[in-house]
Amino acid sequence: MNSFGKAAQLGARLVKIAATNPRRLSHVLGTALSASDDVVDNACDLLQLPVVDVNDLLPTSGDLWEIKMLMFPKTHASISLLEFTALLLLLKRARSQRIFEFGTFKGISITQLALNLPPGSDIYTLDLPDESLNTQFGTDPEDAAIAVETGKGSLVPADLRPRIQFLKCDSAKFDETPLVGKMDFVFVDGAHNFDYVKSDSEKGWRMLRSGGIIAWHDCRHQDPGVVRYLLQSSFRPARIGGTTVAFATKP
Ligand SMILES: C[S@@+](CC[C@H](N)C(=O)[O-])C[C@H]1O[C@@H](n2cnc3c(N)ncnc32)[C@H](O)[C@@H]1O
Repeated sequence: MNSFGKAAQLGARLVKIAATNPRRLSHVLGTALSASDDVVDNACDLLQLPVVDVNDLLPTSGDLWEIKMLMFPKTHASISLLEFTALLLLLKRARSQRIFEFGTFKGISITQLALNLPPGSDIYTLDLPDESLNTQFGTDPEDAAIAVETGKGSLVPADLRPRIQFLKCDSAKFDETPLVGKMDFVFVDGAHNFDYVKSDSEKGWRMLRSGGIIAWHDCRHQDPGVVRYLLQSSFRPARIGGTTVAFATKP
């Protein structure tokens, strides 16, 4: 059936639902509106990014991969269990020993990453200092509400803390020069406006070695700055199905 046929079928169904079960109409309309959010603005059309199944990140042969995860009490502004799994598979694929994270928040994602790195790895995570939330490119209200929370990194278990370098500055002011070409894995999960996603991604890309992997969180229509940047970037990113994680491998 072509698109016009589907539109006619949908129209007829909406009329039928309105007549027979009007309380369910908002559910159907909500789903259609949410799907249309993704495609209404071509520069933000999430569906233009290729999708990779999380199972396709598994090794095809050889040794079994063991991943470790700590289950924190449910919290906000971190990533889902499936997203952790996807990130850890990417971490393994890149045979990581040197990693960099933009956006520490309470430290949940850097904990999961650090747990899966061998002793002696270089592990960096960067966030704003509690005493100064000034940012060069401004901050969206949703990001500001998270950034204002104190205790960045406070959930990282005590035995892991000495292995992690906690950097404290506005990411726009962070000088990545000493780390250029050194990182195996970079995770971008700081501010979500276009200018910050661009700046963090470009710094992250420079820090990656050839064959290293960069991953982004919040590749979804609620964060158009992330989607818009990824669509216009030259990184050839892909989304991981069922998650808001996107990733790209540096040639
Ligand atoms: C969504 S949270 C990170 C969540 C964390 N990666 C996790 O999954 O547990 C985003 C973090 O980015 C930080 N952030 C926002 N703007 C920033 C900036 N300009 N420079 C550095 N960090 C920033 C916020 O303070 C916040 O802690």
